Parts: sequence; C-alpha cells; structure tokens
Amino acid sequence: MYLLLMGPPGAGKGTQAAKLVERYDIPHVSTGDIFRGALQERTPLGLEAKRYMDVGALVPDQVTVGITRERLAKSDCIGGFILDGFPRTLQQAHSLDQMLAKMGIRLNKVVNIVVPDQELIPRLTGRRICQSCGATYHMEFRPPAQPSICDRCGGELYQRTDDQEETVRERLEVYRLQTQPLIQYYQERDLYSEINGAQSTEAVFRDIVVSLTGEEP
Ligand code: AP5
Ligand code: MG
Ligand code: ZN
Repeated sequence: MYLLLMGPPGAGKGTQAAKLVERYDIPHVSTGDIFRGALQERTPLGLEAKRYMDVGALVPDQVTVGITRERLAKSDCIGGFILDGFPRTLQQAHSLDQMLAKMGIRLNKVVNIVVPDQELIPRLTGRRICQSCGATYHMEFRPPAQPSICDRCGGELYQRTDDQEETVRERLEVYRLQTQPLIQYYQERDLYSEINGAQSTEAVFRDIVVSLTGEEP
C-alpha cells in the first residue's frame, strides 16, 4: 500500500504511522525524522535543515525533494510505504508525482488527519520523544510510567526544539499557507479522505483503517 498521511503539526501523523507500520509491515518515511536523524549525526544536511526547523519554516523544496527521492529509491519501499510530512508544498506534490511515475506506482490514498488548532498547541508543547528509539509520549495524554524515561527501551525523553509555543504557532501558520492547498490537489485526483483526529488514538486508527480497506480493524 502506498499511503500519504497529511495533517497539521501535532495531528498525530507519527503516532498513527507507528501503528500502521505494525499492521501493514511497510516503512514509515517521515521527512521530519530524516532531518532530525541527519542533525543528530551533524551532517551538512542536518545542519542546514536545523536553520529552518528551529524557526518553524519549511526546508527548501530542492533539499526536501532530493532526500525523499533517495529514501523512496531504497528497496524496502518497493512494496509500499507510509509517507508522513511530504509533500508540504504544491511543488513537492508535483515532484512526488514524477517520482512515483518513474517508479511505476500510484498512491492508494491520501489521509488527512484533521484537528482544531486549539488542541494542537497543547499536544505539541506537552510532547516528549525517546532519544534512543523515537517513541512519542505526551506529559498528559500519554505519559511514560516514569518521568523522562521511555517505557519501551529505557532511553531518555527529550522535547523537540520546535515544540516551543511561539514556534508551534509559526508552524501552524506555515501549514495553513503552504500545505493546506494540497487538499484540493488530492481531491481533484480522487485520492483524498479526511479523518477526525480529535478522538482517542485508537479511534483515529480505526477510522484510518476503515478508510483504507472499508473494514473495521
Ligand atoms: P515534522 O517532523 O514532519 O513535524 P510536523 O508536520 O510539524 O508534525 P509533528 O511531527 O509535530 O506532529 P505529528 O502529526 O507527527 O504528531 P505526533 O504523532 O507526534 O516536520 C518538522 C519540520 O521539518 C518542519 O517544520 C520543517 O521545518 C521540516 N520539514 C519536514 N518535512 C518537510 C517538507 N516536506 N518540506 C519542507 N520542510 C519539511 O503527535 C503529537 C503529540 O500529540 C504527541 O505527544 C502525541 O503523543 C499526542 N497525540 C497524538 N495523537 C493524539 C490523540 N489522538 N489524542 C491526544 N494526543 C495525541
Ligand atoms: Mg511527526
Ligand atoms: Zn525508547
């Protein structure tokens, strides 16, 4: 299955992608995760991306398209993938169409997880992530058993630098201006479906699976 997960910052794309990976055994391709991984290794790509991410801006299309093309060319993507956080501009959407055409594949579905802004801000400012395995927590909605320690692997939890409230507001504005126009792009291609993300993670997951397969999980 070739799936694209859309939604504003904090909608639950990463949380749902982790559940979809388990169910469908296909890779999760998140451009945000790729940039953060590159930054952890202090590569030139990571250091360049950091300049944009820290202020809530988009990394330039040329850079983002290049790393996505490289990632989708890896052999684990042949049978399917879950794209999260790409495309985010119309230019990126056109580039993705070209990449997929070259690979001889088509997207099965574009799922947009919709959550009102007033819920997104507390979700992001309260988010914590495991330094070692990347598992995502929330101080209120999904707290770890012990503060600052990952339940899954014992790793240390950290807060993303772009999860400060001021940066979160900027990211939401960038989403509205640059990414929301993609809704129409995918509606016109009959790929689009919308999921109510303001429910429990289990209810959101159920709705996504129903929209993909027509069957309850
Ligand atoms: P990216 O990493 O993609 O961030 P984002 O799109 O802003 O989305 P998030 O990862 O913040 O949220 P999410 O939807 O994954 O939510 P999560 O599941 O974690 O991008 C970061 C930056 O990289 C960009 O700003 C840009 O600079 C750059 N970048 C990336 N891609 C790019 C591109 N294509 N072009 C240019 N630049 C690019 O959940 C959030 C929190 O809510 C968690 O704490 C979670 O536990 C909690 N939660 C989840 N679901 C629920 C629920 N149902 N109820 C209650 N709480 C919930
Ligand atoms: Mg994410
Ligand atoms: Zn962990």
